[in-house]
Amino acid sequence: MKHCEGCNGSKIDDKLEKIGQKYKNNPSSIIEALHEVQDTYGYISTTAQKYLSETVNVPMSEIYGIITFYSRFSLKPKGKYNIQVCMGTACYVKGSEKILNTFKEKLGISEGQTTDDGLFSLESIRCIGACGLAPAIVVNNEVYGRFTPDKVEEIIEKYKNM
Ligand code: FES
Repeated sequence: MKHCEGCNGSKIDDKLEKIGQKYKNNPSSIIEALHEVQDTYGYISTTAQKYLSETVNVPMSEIYGIITFYSRFSLKPKGKYNIQVCMGTACYVKGSEKILNTFKEKLGISEGQTTDDGLFSLESIRCIGACGLAPAIVVNNEVYGRFTPDKVEEIIEKYKNM
């Protein structure tokens, strides 16, 4: 455990330190480093951004630009259950927008947000390759095909009681 000078004294845990050391002074590998942080923590905290900026040697503004450009990267922790609604063409024409809006309404959050209890987060995604099952949603790694807005409540309850 060490301190990061530019992180207001925040502690850097061993996993983050290992990632930083692996890509030390190798700016062209910043995307790989960010992938590792995303996979390890589920998001990329400000502390992690500052630490990578120092160790990998990439300006903070560039790191922030990369994180916000790629939808795979997240600045905030996701919920225990991450709900992704496919908005690819096949799903869209079969009503995925209505599904997304129903999730927003029932969970009281917008895309990119997490419920206050930390249980659910909501995102829209591009085609997941299950067009034959359109419209499709994914909860963590589980795909639900031929989904309809009236199943939204049911799926929320299912995960709440898991
Ligand atoms: S468009 Fe939704 S799975 Fe392909």
